[in-house]
Amino acid sequence: MPIKPTKKEPVQKAKGMHDILPKEYLLRKKFVEKAAAIAFFYGFKPVRTPILEKEELFTTTLGETTDIVEKEMYNLKTKGGDKLVLRPEGTAPMTRLYIEHGLHTKPQPVMLYYEGSFFRHENPQKGRRREFEQLGLEILGETDPITDATIIKTFLVILEEAAGLKPITLRINSVGCKNCRKAYLKELTTYLRKKSSYLCKNCNRRIKTNPLRILDCKEESCAKIKEEAPQIINYLCDPCKNHFKETLEVLDSSEIPYYIDHYLVRGLDYYSRTAFELTIEDDSLVLVGGGRYDSLAKMLGGKDIPAVGAALGVDRVIEKMKEKGKDDLEKKKPKVFFIQLGNEAKFKSLKILEILRKAKIPVRHSLTKNSMRGQLNLAGKTKAPYALIFGQKESLDNSIIVKNVETASQETVPLSNLAEYLKKKL
Ligand code: HAM
Repeated sequence: MPIKPTKKEPVQKAKGMHDILPKEYLLRKKFVEKAAAIAFFYGFKPVRTPILEKEELFTTTLGETTDIVEKEMYNLKTKGGDKLVLRPEGTAPMTRLYIEHGLHTKPQPVMLYYEGSFFRHENPQKGRRREFEQLGLEILGETDPITDATIIKTFLVILEEAAGLKPITLRINSVGCKNCRKAYLKELTTYLRKKSSYLCKNCNRRIKTNPLRILDCKEESCAKIKEEAPQIINYLCDPCKNHFKETLEVLDSSEIPYYIDHYLVRGLDYYSRTAFELTIEDDSLVLVGGGRYDSLAKMLGGKDIPAVGAALGVDRVIEKMKEKGKDDLEKKKPKVFFIQLGNEAKFKSLKILEILRKAKIPVRHSLTKNSMRGQLNLAGKTKAPYALIFGQKESLDNSIIVKNVETASQETVPLSNLAEYLKKKL
């Protein structure tokens, strides 16, 4: 039946989603491979969790009044009635995996690496996608501040060496624990109430529901109010103060420069003690965010498991690499260009390519082109030093012409000897 012409717009991808074309695909692959190698060196072991998780995994851990739980989760109900969500982040799934697989019985700490797609129904804008890729590191089962510093150091090396992004700024704070935060929240709420007429509508609501998040508001008027807000550092209990002090000491000894940001809080409720973010210079786009989350396992019904981690936004890093001209990929030049002439030869082309693939000889070809000229033009563009010419005669003789492109000298070689012959030449 003939296809009817239609005026309908072609179907496009859903809002906030992205296609990745070959050039960027290769850039991402190379970055992720280098990042993974750095993480493995520091002792992280790769794991993978499902993209769909039970809704309660996130509602019980991220905080009822966080943006993610309030409005950003992609929920779905299965035919059987299960409430599932597309995972919005990786820390709760990693903690679930640790408990579910009894990793507390293994030597501690357990160091995990993961990479993959995450989903948040946010307003798409620069650096904010609805499907985005994160590369995460988590160290579970240990309170020692050396683990906080290990997470920071590994991500610094990843940004500097795998992405070529320098200089990186580390902003760090301690958000205390649930004990010392109580007194701080009381003081902060009193202060914010007094200033409520200057706060945005959202923050006015947050005074009651989640005052800490007001410190993270990007509205100009709220940011101003933050400047004189009480600082959590003055309310830390002794164990939290000592933990923060020791974390900074490890950073000093490791010659990792940092900037203490007394108002740095993170957008998720599970954090305790260390909270940190990495940006390039003083850019506002956070490339890596993370911290300690010693109470998360208990929220999931496990026992207390001290843990620290962070996640890197791969999409943001790739955009920065492009902006800074760090997106050049070394192109491997092919050694050989394969030319076929006539149907007889064309039909046997895949057999010849297989000989080359098995011999690990990189080859370019254009099997859909039939003219010698068209194929020679392409061969010239690839700058391959050798052209293989396979015509009707060669196809009948089970041979092939190997032509040195520069000297124009050529030799006919039996197919049975082609791999050996080329290996000697290349
Ligand atoms: P997060 O700050 O929500 O933390 O995300 C970490 C990083 O993921 C961000 O700094 C950013 O680079 C990237 N990212 C987040 N949302 C988007 C988005 N919509 N589009 C593009 N990139 C995005 C977490 O997710 C925690 N689980 C990190 C963590 C691990 N904390 C402890 N362990």
